[in-house]
Amino acid sequence: MAVHHATDIQQLQRLPWFHFLAALGALYLGAVTLRLLAYLGLPNFLHSPTPTDLRRRYGAWAVVTGPTSGIGRSMAFELARRGLNVVLVGRDPGKLRDVSDTITKTHAGVQTKTVLFDLAFVSTAQGEEAMRRLREVVDGLDVGLLVNNAGVAKPCAVYLHEFDVDAWVKMIRVNLWALTEVTAAVLPGMVARRRGAIVNIGSGSTEAIPSFPLYTIYAATKRYVSQFSRSLYVEYRSKGIHIQCQAPLFVDTKMASSVAKAKRFSPFVPTSDAYAHAAVRWIGHGALCVPNAGHRVQRCLAVVVPDCIHDWLRLREHLRQRALFQRLRSARAAPSTPTIGTTFREKS
Ligand SMILES: NC(=O)c1ccc[n+]([C@@H]2O[C@H](COP(=O)([O-])OP(=O)(O)OC[C@H]3O[C@@H](n4cnc5c(N)ncnc54)[C@H](OP(=O)(O)O)[C@@H]3O)[C@@H](O)[C@H]2O)c1
Repeated sequence: MAVHHATDIQQLQRLPWFHFLAALGALYLGAVTLRLLAYLGLPNFLHSPTPTDLRRRYGAWAVVTGPTSGIGRSMAFELARRGLNVVLVGRDPGKLRDVSDTITKTHAGVQTKTVLFDLAFVSTAQGEEAMRRLREVVDGLDVGLLVNNAGVAKPCAVYLHEFDVDAWVKMIRVNLWALTEVTAAVLPGMVARRRGAIVNIGSGSTEAIPSFPLYTIYAATKRYVSQFSRSLYVEYRSKGIHIQCQAPLFVDTKMASSVAKAKRFSPFVPTSDAYAHAAVRWIGHGALCVPNAGHRVQRCLAVVVPDCIHDWLRLREHLRQRALFQRLRSARAAPSTPTIGTTFREKS
């Protein structure tokens, strides 16, 4: 039997197309392996890439949107620590002043500028005025880096029909529309100088799992961020501009604690400072990255779980959150009733 088998293989090997098919198969296997390695983020799977001198490579100034809390605030500080001057774009003048003062006090020689801009008003008359100010500020500076970080996840854990359209429009404006306009505002200077990097903060809700029910608009805006970044990456790399989508999973910020009891998963939930420390090292490395090592492990584990299980688990968890939010809203509507605690922090 074994002898027959060996003879069959020898005969097969004599056929002219056998070697061609074998080569094609090997090429295909090689391509699949390379894709898998790229997906895992190798060779930087366990360690973040070695830091680049961002100021020298891209330019002296960075623009950060949403620098007044969470990831954006930590990114602004991390960039300042690396010697970049920072343009801070946010909606709250007091918080902007506070971040600006702290940066200049902590990092001697680093300059800051602030632009007051409520991104929810982008492409309205009020938003146009703020956008004009931003363009004016950016035009006169050697802006090498833009971090499009500002984002909103509210309303959290609701069916699409449960909120009025204004809430969705606001989310779409901040997460997607403003990010597009701010990118378009900094690109001309980068193109003229033939250098620059743009980091768009996407989300693991679209990069690590197949669905994010009850946060549908949020996840859809983040899918836009990912596709927008990928196509721009191809469009602008020959012009010396590196465009990247960074996809965090849970990071311990105001947004995460308002969305879920993030601390439950604490080994996998970095602080915003730890996240930013890794995120800045990834700038210039790939079109899409998951900067935190714990998040990369989670993303790999998620790949082996069938989509239907992800769908079921997410829906179950988000329905649980929806029930909690409903109780919280009812408690707020009736001030005399005791509230359900401080796990969820909501801010309009
Ligand atoms: N934390 C996570 O687990 C996680 C996971 C995946 C992706 N992300 C993404 O990471 C980014 C940062 O989120 P975060 O967790 O750091 O949230 P955060 O702590 O709530 O910070 C959000 C930032 O965006 C600003 N912002 C919100 N609405 C704005 C508006 N209309 N105009 C101008 N600025 C506005 C906020 O300003 P104020 O200080 O004035 O509110 C704040 O500076 C977001 O794009 C988010 O989608 C976060």
